[in-house]
Amino acid sequence: MANPLSVFGLDEETENTMYEVKPEQSVELLKALHILTRDGKMNQDSRRKLKQIYHLFNFIEPLLKTLQQDERPISLVDHGAGKSYLGFILYDLFFKLHEDASFLYGIETREELVEKSTQLAAQLGFGRMRFLNLSVADSIRSALLPPQVDVVTALHACNTATDDAIHFALQKQARFVVLVPCCQAEVAAELKKNKSRMLHESVLVELWRHPIHSREFGSHATNVLRCLQLEAHGYQVTVTELVGWEHSMKNELIIAEKKGQANRRAAERLTQLLQMLGLEALSLRFFLPDQLQTSVSK
Ligand SMILES: C[S@@+](CC[C@H](N)C(=O)[O-])C[C@H]1O[C@@H](n2cnc3c(N)ncnc32)[C@H](O)[C@@H]1O
Repeated sequence: MANPLSVFGLDEETENTMYEVKPEQSVELLKALHILTRDGKMNQDSRRKLKQIYHLFNFIEPLLKTLQQDERPISLVDHGAGKSYLGFILYDLFFKLHEDASFLYGIETREELVEKSTQLAAQLGFGRMRFLNLSVADSIRSALLPPQVDVVTALHACNTATDDAIHFALQKQARFVVLVPCCQAEVAAELKKNKSRMLHESVLVELWRHPIHSREFGSHATNVLRCLQLEAHGYQVTVTELVGWEHSMKNELIIAEKKGQANRRAAERLTQLLQMLGLEALSLRFFLPDQLQTSVSK
């Protein structure tokens, strides 16, 4: 698409930067996140990063707008927040523009990142943001978070932090869950551990007999199990590719919306799949809804 700012006779770099920075957006924030240089320019890497975050924002904004229809404040928890690019962009482009009691939390185990984000939010006057130095697992029971939250996000949260984020979402009855999983080693390790037993039991073991396949199949199986778990708990799940996420191989986007009560068929399929793959030991990780715990056939 032609750059609409070219009519102002600006140099190409400044034009591009202005085109990509939205009118309502804080330039101070983009400088603090090193997306813009001190003189307001943008390099190739930052341009790519910003494009990617916008791309994810485009998936999340409609969910926030849906929640707004209920005319009550929204709570969003971002797990494994890192430098909180996602949280800050969400706040700047959405939360900041709606002067209600909506609140955004970032959960992160690295204390220095929590401190930096806390300082930046204070500097920008982003008063309805809070960063907590907690693991995702500990945040489930933390009194610093509300008993119910509306949206849970986890963007490249390492290893089992994504699973803990699902646990958190289920516990907090989140309406929406948005996950871009990172690599998870637990399932692959379990597949490897049971390989010799499974060699005698099922031809399926060929899917992960070689170490590189254990890793890749393990990663794929993990996301399939996560989706089934969400479905078993009454969520409708969409899995898509985060197109344009060039900086990472991990570009699977899982969006789940709570639609109803526990889903017996999904719970049965989750249980069967764990059995077929020899992953029964992980049934606590991919736990079923309470009401189906005893009745789903093992
Ligand atoms: C790959 S970074 C992603 C950061 C950010 N979400 C992004 O995509 O730019 C993963 C972050 O998750 C944090 N992390 C890893 N395991 C965690 C856990 N169990 N609880 C909370 N944070 C965790 C790490 O310290 C790191 O900052």
